[in-house]
Amino acid sequence: HLVSIVLSGGAGTRLWPVSRQALPKPFMHLGGSSLLQQAIERGQACGAGATTIVTNQDYLFLTRGVLGGLSDPPQVRYLLEPKGRNTAPAIALAALACAQQYGTDAVMLVLPADHLIPDTESFVACALEAARHAQQGQLVVFGVPPTTPETGFGYIEVEKASRNSQKALRFVEKPDLSTAQQYLATGRFYWNSGMFCFSAGTLLQAMKDHAPQVLAAAEHAFGDSTSQDGVTRFDAHAFGLQPDISIDYAVMERATNVTLVPAKFGWSDVGSWPAVAQAHPADTSGNTFVDADGTEFAAVETTGTHVQVESHTPKVVATIGVQDLVIVDTPDALLVAHKNSAQKVKTVVDLLKERK
Ligand code: GDD
Ligand code: MG
Repeated sequence: HLVSIVLSGGAGTRLWPVSRQALPKPFMHLGGSSLLQQAIERGQACGAGATTIVTNQDYLFLTRGVLGGLSDPPQVRYLLEPKGRNTAPAIALAALACAQQYGTDAVMLVLPADHLIPDTESFVACALEAARHAQQGQLVVFGVPPTTPETGFGYIEVEKASRNSQKALRFVEKPDLSTAQQYLATGRFYWNSGMFCFSAGTLLQAMKDHAPQVLAAAEHAFGDSTSQDGVTRFDAHAFGLQPDISIDYAVMERATNVTLVPAKFGWSDVGSWPAVAQAHPADTSGNTFVDADGTEFAAVETTGTHVQVESHTPKVVATIGVQDLVIVDTPDALLVAHKNSAQKVKTVVDLLKERK
């Protein structure tokens, strides 16, 4: 039995002003549909008969809206979080729910709801390989061949990077720049995609071995939950007692039965505006344009610039003599940033919060 576990968490402030508290990143549209919808459909394409969505209780209606738009909606169970407690508790709760409903042998395919993977067919092939390792008691991670010394990712060391699955030797979550540069030079590292595959039983056992306090808190919260019509709600107090820790720190860095399946598909966690730009076809000058209905882009002597308009009234956006900008126009906020500084969008969000 294969169950896809869709993690639909935080707001993703690096994509302000589109992604924010009221409309977090999973609900952002990229390539025709929302990232959340794509994650659900990706799980279905792998043959997952059921989908468990772990998300904040505030997003239930938005999420149901996405499900309602599917031509072939899966059977869904919702685990509604009173607040974000990071991925270790989210995955532990999903494993408990999965074990209860389908048994400990059920294989969980953990998919973050805010990734972009255009090539479903290649993804499915990798996921089926991952599921085979999962059935043999492995904790499987999908590793992405690194192209830059990105410091926002976890790194996984293997004996020698190749196209084959192999034992993961070491996990290092978010190294500093010089460490990341060294890693790239060795040819022994992959980025951690944040997607995983394991049986519910294997994950629960790994938690028992490496993060017993996370498991105990999750069991307590699960024991205090109520379920009705496929929706599980938690007692806020019991839920809040769970430690705020990621699955990478809690389990992956410590476990020894970890298999890495190399990603043979394009992958982006769409973590910044330049990443959004990269996900769109560019014109001959390297410009990308994402429009709402009726919007027009007039570019004169403009290169490498991403323009995104989310407005209700048709409008023309003209740029002249600019390079490598990100311009994002929404009804109540306008962002103009250089691509090299686009990572600092979070600083703006913090600044605006301070002023409130
Ligand atoms: N439901 C739920 N609840 N989902 C959550 C929570 C939570 O409390 N916290 C995080 N998530 C979801 C996010 O929405 C996202 O889809 C995914 O889990 C990963 O969380 P991030 O907060 O985006 O983690 P990160 O980007 O710092 O790092 C992780 O992802 C990288 C790849 O994108 C790590 O796994 C890194 O090692 C990895 O390289
Ligand atoms: Mg992330």
